[in-house]
Amino acid sequence: MTMRALHLTITDGIAEIVFDLPGESVNKISGSVKDEFLALFEQLERDASVRGAILISGKPDSFIAGADIDEFLRWTTPEQAEQASRDGHALLEKLERLRLPVVAAIHGACLGGGLEAVLACAYRIATDHPKTILALPEVQLGIFPGAGGTQRLPRTVGLRAALDMILTGKNVRARKAAQSGLVHELVHPAILRTIALQRAREIADGVRARNPDARTRDAAALFLDDTPVGRSIVLRQAREMTLKKTRGHYPAPLAAIAAVAAGYHDREQGYQEEGRLFGQMAMTSIARELISLFFATTALKKDSGVGDAPVTVRSVEKIGVLGAGFMGAGIAGIAVQQGTLVRLKDADLARVGKGLGAIRELLKDGVTKKRITRAQMNDQLLLAGGTVDYSGFGNVDLVIEAVFEDLYVKHKVMREVEAVLPPHAIVASNTSTIPIARIAAASARPERVVGMHFFSPVHKMPLLEVIVTPQTAREVTATAVAYGKQLGKTVIVVNDAPGFYVNRILSPYLNEAGRLLDGGAAVDAVDRALLDFGFPVGPITLLDEVGLDIAGKSGAIFVEAFGDRLAPSETLRRVVESGRLGRKGRKGFYLYDGDGKKGGVDDTVYAFTPSGARRAEVTIDEVQRRCILAMVNEAARCLEEGIVRSPRDGDVGAVFGIGFPPFRGGPFRYMDAVGAGRVVEELEQLNARFSGRYAPAEMLVHMARKGERFYSNRGRPA
Ligand code: NAI
Repeated sequence: MTMRALHLTITDGIAEIVFDLPGESVNKISGSVKDEFLALFEQLERDASVRGAILISGKPDSFIAGADIDEFLRWTTPEQAEQASRDGHALLEKLERLRLPVVAAIHGACLGGGLEAVLACAYRIATDHPKTILALPEVQLGIFPGAGGTQRLPRTVGLRAALDMILTGKNVRARKAAQSGLVHELVHPAILRTIALQRAREIADGVRARNPDARTRDAAALFLDDTPVGRSIVLRQAREMTLKKTRGHYPAPLAAIAAVAAGYHDREQGYQEEGRLFGQMAMTSIARELISLFFATTALKKDSGVGDAPVTVRSVEKIGVLGAGFMGAGIAGIAVQQGTLVRLKDADLARVGKGLGAIRELLKDGVTKKRITRAQMNDQLLLAGGTVDYSGFGNVDLVIEAVFEDLYVKHKVMREVEAVLPPHAIVASNTSTIPIARIAAASARPERVVGMHFFSPVHKMPLLEVIVTPQTAREVTATAVAYGKQLGKTVIVVNDAPGFYVNRILSPYLNEAGRLLDGGAAVDAVDRALLDFGFPVGPITLLDEVGLDIAGKSGAIFVEAFGDRLAPSETLRRVVESGRLGRKGRKGFYLYDGDGKKGGVDDTVYAFTPSGARRAEVTIDEVQRRCILAMVNEAARCLEEGIVRSPRDGDVGAVFGIGFPPFRGGPFRYMDAVGAGRVVEELEQLNARFSGRYAPAEMLVHMARKGERFYSNRGRPA
């Protein structure tokens, strides 16, 4: 066969296999790549002149990114997925048992199937470089490692370290990988190839062992990893913790634990179980939804935000941030981490100082967690400067405004800053509720005004909404999108309207949770029902987190814009009036200690419900139905009104901005799963009970009539 992805050269009996998938920026393992490997291994096995080999990547800063996920969507039965797993087993078994030793020379990301492949190699060398990370991210796609990873990894690094990687999918840096025995040796990238060739020769000559055990074992490891009793304790705890964390929504981590456990009984049985369970997991709706989200975010990474026509994207080297408060400092913090020069402005020096202090804290956390060195932290800190006037704003490319949520203040700073900005500079507002066009009304150049809505806490929340008005120039939108991506965010472009997209769909959901309290439901019962649905926090807890004052203010904006349909509940209105602020004020729907740690429900809050002390039982189903349908119906309205460009953007926005359960794919994929017909039927039933609040979006009614879906097929976003 002709080799397309693998290139072979043989020098002095040592083969160099360079993996360089044509037309792709990273190496992915597809069925045809597997066939190439198999043919190559057979060829090497037959060639008696070859004594050893190295496997290296031809891509800059990337080793193997994992399996080709496109192929997963072609499987239609568990048997097909299981067969793919068995093919992987056979291939890596062949690699492991090759007459000649194969040394893996790893630089850049070594993920999923790539990591499983190097585990079958005779020796692993990695570069001591920040780009070199090793991980098994399969659980994030609703599956688990199916090419022997659940079998080889525990034997290589021990049970606990293996479970930690398999169950979380987290990235392991090269140095940590060397400590755990996952790789045998660390080298500088410049000598990776040379050392790998040398090690292959040494193993071939018998002066170095094949796959030596590189673990360092302390007493705990000797018991917990290496004895049957210890392992059964670890496995039991892993099951318990997984169940607690996933609330039973994600079966793949449990299946992975079962496959790992089976391998300790009997090697053959371990592989059997891995294949069988992989087949099952690959076909769950959970895996389909998570894979579709993966494709959606991948597509967004390549999306300019303004369509396919050519557009000039300006590079952003220096930004000005207005307001050194909670959000302003957060934005400045992630900007300096990406090497952007930042001028941070606030009204007085004390607040500027506080903002700079917050940046320092964020960077220090990076040092503590070993993501950056102290020297890097100091370099990044030097990028941020503070000011109380607009000095230093004369050469910024972008201003991000994060002053008080007050139109008067926003207009004032708009006029002030525009007086000093260079003509090309963009002004972006981080407002959470004020329409951008209203803010731009004070601008002399509204075509250069855009919304960049970050979520809190800025460094953790992955989403950025870029909001465009009819006046925003395409170049401005494209530049805001590109810079958002540079900051590591997943960016969706939305049209300007009150609440934009994310907060708009959150509003009826939170209101409905409040209305359930109006009707006598218990605070914790409402929260629990939505945790059960799969949200990371319940809606009432979320209100406390966001701040009840803020919830109250945004409620008023929604009523003004959309009328009674989006009116807050009576309970929320009264609690806000009482002055409770939620967690930041240590008083809300829940009890908080001095450090803001949440306790049980604050029973005194029931005095604010219209029903007073009278409590009523509500079923989980009632809570979920009322809150979820309110949210997804609003999402459909947003699509209908052109606020979001596509169901894909709507799904990504809800999952990454609100925590809509990822395994349900987002509001639009959820509606597809339920079926438009049923969604409309249920909305109409609710609308009969709560007149006006649940009138189905016209788009849904139309889709129900025609039997249409938001996505044309089950896998890829339409
Ligand atoms: P904050 O109150 O922590 O910070 C606002 C800062 O702006 C204060 O330090 C204040 O001194 C400063 N400021 C006021 N007038 C100024 C002026 N004329 N020049 C310079 N600085 C001035 O408020 P936060 O939470 O950071 O919110 C800022 C903006 O971000 C608001 O528009 C808010 O709606 C939006 N936002 C807030 C989110 C949150 O979760 N807190 C989430 C997303 C957006």
